[in-house]
Amino acid sequence: MNITVLTYDTVDSTNTEALKQARLGADEGLCIVARQQTAGRGRHGRTWVSEKDAGLYFSIVLRPKIETKYLPLITLMAGVAVYDTLQELGVKPDIKWVNDVVVDEKKISGILAETTETNDGLAVVVGIGINIKSSNLLEIAGIATSIGSEPGAIATGDLTEILTKYISYFYDIFTTQNGPAKIVDEWRRRSTYFSGKAVLVKLGDKTITGITEGLESNGALRLRKADGDVAIVQAGDVESLRLDQSFRR
Ligand code: BTN
Repeated sequence: MNITVLTYDTVDSTNTEALKQARLGADEGLCIVARQQTAGRGRHGRTWVSEKDAGLYFSIVLRPKIETKYLPLITLMAGVAVYDTLQELGVKPDIKWVNDVVVDEKKISGILAETTETNDGLAVVVGIGINIKSSNLLEIAGIATSIGSEPGAIATGDLTEILTKYISYFYDIFTTQNGPAKIVDEWRRRSTYFSGKAVLVKLGDKTITGITEGLESNGALRLRKADGDVAIVQAGDVESLRLDQSFRR
């Protein structure tokens, strides 16, 4: 994949800009990077706080030629790429299903994939935010962390360059033979959430608790519930639980 990076000082959202460029015919590999976002978006309609130079605000246009059922795996692929990027910088991350990259359960990166129809077929924009500086309130509240706050972290060099190196690498794997299964396997090797983790999953006003038991071939989370049934979770927010919290009620 040919990577082209367009850098802006301020945009509303790098995802919005990348979706616009995709509809105008941008090739796969176009990346939009901004120093700040005025309307950064998170998952489930949330805001992504995007102060100037406090984070990497990055979106890439992809045009994957894969079966539609495997599209959700693009966010897992991006999570794996972010994981390796952070590890190269000396940070010790984990990936919380589906695509939060965390350090000691504190969020350091979020991923938001969005699709749009274009004249050249479906385009997927993968937006990635990585916290670089500890300037935001979530960090003070103990919910988030940043590269700058992690003791082992080394100077970041060009974060965009490292990230695009890993995205290209894993996207090539994803789009070749048996790619989806290989991405699930790469994810398994990096995430403590893959199996044996007691979690609570929230989706809207519904919650399910259980022990994780691997992923489906499209990336959905398998959850063994206390009644012995397996729930297949396609979307939702996951929190890890201590066993005594979840099952000694
Ligand atoms: C999440 O809720 O965890 C996903 C956050 C995704 C944030 C990134 S920052 C770059 C890109 N542009 C956006 O508006 N959102 C994504």
